[in-house]
Amino acid sequence: MPKIILAIESSCDETACAILKDDQLLANVVSTQIEIHQKYGGVFPEIASRLHVENIAFVLKEALEKSAVKMEEVSAIAITRGPGLIGALHVGLQAAKALCLYYDKPLIPVHHLAGHIYANEYITPLKFPCLAIVVSGGNTELVIMKEHLDFQIIGETRDDAIGEAFDKVARVLGLPYPGGVEIDRLAKEGKPTYSLPKPMQGQRYDYSFSGLKTAVINLVHKFEQKNEKIHLEDMACSFQKVAIDLLLDKALPAVNEFHCRQVVLAGGVSANSYLRSEIVRRLKKQDIEVVIPPLWCTTDNAAMIAKVGSYLYDIHAFADLKISSDPSWRLEDFLNFPKEGEKE
Ligand code: KG4
Repeated sequence: MPKIILAIESSCDETACAILKDDQLLANVVSTQIEIHQKYGGVFPEIASRLHVENIAFVLKEALEKSAVKMEEVSAIAITRGPGLIGALHVGLQAAKALCLYYDKPLIPVHHLAGHIYANEYITPLKFPCLAIVVSGGNTELVIMKEHLDFQIIGETRDDAIGEAFDKVARVLGLPYPGGVEIDRLAKEGKPTYSLPKPMQGQRYDYSFSGLKTAVINLVHKFEQKNEKIHLEDMACSFQKVAIDLLLDKALPAVNEFHCRQVVLAGGVSANSYLRSEIVRRLKKQDIEVVIPPLWCTTDNAAMIAKVGSYLYDIHAFADLKISSDPSWRLEDFLNFPKEGEKE
């Protein structure tokens, strides 16, 4: 019997469904809401939830049609349980529960960041010990994996996530959401001429991006007060260089400390072109495999949730259907949920 995982992702502004049959990705449907949220300069949570409600049935139907899989053939349903926006997560979870009830299928709750890390398995298998540099709109985490489904967070941001800093800096520069994409684009035409601070250099593996963001905001205001124009391309380039250099300065010593065989990038900010080239440049003399996810893997999708779901299926990590979403679920607690058939 083939193992068929149907996965649903709805943690932020993408409604997605994927179907994975053993190692073969049969469907990967993503409906993005970006254009709607652009009007508000960021994701509007209530609107995100409503759009998930409108889209989820169509996304599911399309994935089933594309894969030519019938619900009866599905082995289990994997769902992003968290972290993410509470209302958005609920929509996916309720859809998944309804399918599980109706078709009598096990429910597999998946951690969103585990999904981003496992997206790399569509390129190459994870090799351990592995350093995962998880950089997204809501999270910045350095994760060591000694084996499959074993996540140890060795460092994280103490305030803003790196993607959040990109988005807020972009907003103050008058650039559209999602700001990271625009900053990346402009930075290619600029030079790092502005001097910006690199916060928390001393603290090993932990980050702070809020000071850097505030430094840019203060500089922009100073220029405005003096009626001077900021050079957008140079500012984008200066900010991007400091943020990514800081990320790598702190992350890469972990490669030696934990004797890593592989480094993987994960999350939306891994689409950043400077990060992608700089990590390869810095590690080229070391005997280590650097895995850079293709762009389709850097944005939210359900294929990555299916991948983790498939590993969790093998260990029967099935949830009780009373489970709820967890918007601030810790990666290290990813197996900590009420299990099917477990007594309270
Ligand atoms: O992984 P993701 O969808 O966020 C969460 O799930 O939390 O990533 C979205 C983030 C946004 O902050 C966006 O600005 C950033 O990824 N991003 C980028 C780039 N493309 C997307 N940041 C820097 N450079 C990019 N090319």
